[in-house]
Amino acid sequence: MKQLVIEGQHKLSGEIKISGAKNSVVALIPAAILSDDEVKLYNVPNISDTKALIDIIELLNGKVTYDDEVMIINSQNIENKVVPENLSKKLRASYYFMGALLGKFHYAEIYFPGGCNIGSRPIDLHINGFKKLGAEVYIEGNKYIIKADKLKGARIYLDFASVGATINIMLAAVKAEGTTYISNAAKEPEIVNVATLLNNMGARVSGAGTNEIKIEGVSKLSSGVIDVIPDRIEAGTYTIIGALLGQDLKISGIIEDHIDALLSKLREMGVNMYIDKNSIIISSPHEFKPINIKTLVFPGFATDLGQPMSVLLTQADGISIFEETIYENRMGHVKYLQKMGANIKVNDRTAIIIGKTPLKGTEVSATDLRAGAAMVVAGLIAEGKTTINDIEHILRGYEKIVEKLQNVGAKIEVIES
Ligand code: EPZ
Repeated sequence: MKQLVIEGQHKLSGEIKISGAKNSVVALIPAAILSDDEVKLYNVPNISDTKALIDIIELLNGKVTYDDEVMIINSQNIENKVVPENLSKKLRASYYFMGALLGKFHYAEIYFPGGCNIGSRPIDLHINGFKKLGAEVYIEGNKYIIKADKLKGARIYLDFASVGATINIMLAAVKAEGTTYISNAAKEPEIVNVATLLNNMGARVSGAGTNEIKIEGVSKLSSGVIDVIPDRIEAGTYTIIGALLGQDLKISGIIEDHIDALLSKLREMGVNMYIDKNSIIISSPHEFKPINIKTLVFPGFATDLGQPMSVLLTQADGISIFEETIYENRMGHVKYLQKMGANIKVNDRTAIIIGKTPLKGTEVSATDLRAGAAMVVAGLIAEGKTTINDIEHILRGYEKIVEKLQNVGAKIEVIES
């Protein structure tokens, strides 16, 4: 069993370079199979979610080369096969093969997706979207069977601006006959990244990044190239760490607009940052003002940053409130923060955080990916040694987290026990 061991309270300086976005690349890889040719992705993060998706492409008889952050996916010989449970369960984003296979072959057979246990996470909006495009959807045991004689453009309104449903419907609709409109679409930067790749492959998608996306179906998609956008959640996590421990810590390779909500909250807390075009230089202030955060869809405060941010709030002088509105169960990290000495009261999806409390190193667990990130943040500021269990969740989403932190002065290592 692998564990992360952190000796806390070391100041951090130097530079951390942000990797390509997990939540973009996990959609870009399935999108590539819509091509009848070769798709090239740059800035691909080397995380376990990426590896799991390569396994699925290879199972479908696609060819993948992946070297030095460049991935080439050749879909010339792609075949339609069942995506088995052992692969689909490895990550949430396996569900993008529903839209991609449906769009390409008008048939998809895939077992239920996996992913972090942070709430019920239904995919009814994806399924309803496929049905609006003309597909029939059956559940057989733990498996979806989705089929259509032909796919026809439709007007699809999403009850909630779901990232996954917006992308999956785009994937299914790009080769449909006629025009599809997705209204109340999600506006996250990852959606723009996926739409840009699809357009590079020959699709006609407009409006991505706004709440209405128009997709004019085309009959064929060919080769395409895309840069994976920087990971805004990784950038945000290291910026939070910089606010706590930075001494002119530079976070480079960011897109400022993607983390505006976080930066504005950090300023409200009294954190000074020097922001250049693609980087932030950050130093920890002597004290933090308490604030309230409420997670929202983009451009609101990202749900994926709520847990790491809650650690920072334990160091503010006074009462802060962290309200999670996207998922039912994003408080898994709180019991471990309490064990480390934090004063936090949870009421349903709201945490009341009373600071400032020193944190003490102890044994904790990563209950999900961002809860794990929160534990890393907590371990870095705690007195003494923190040991984190279940770190495979963290490694799913943060490329080279140990090396990146060690390079700026953190005492952190992976041990086998
Ligand atoms: C994506 O999840 C990300 N995952 C999540 O990142 C992220 O938290 C989320 O978007 C919001 O930004 C991937 O990209 C793989 P949603 P997704 O569909 O697409 C409800 C992380 O830590 N909903 O926008 O699953 C759903 O239950 C992960 O990196 C429905 O009710 O998010 C949830 O409450 C975790 N029906 C809310 O919408 C549906 O059909 C948000 O889901 C779909 C969603």
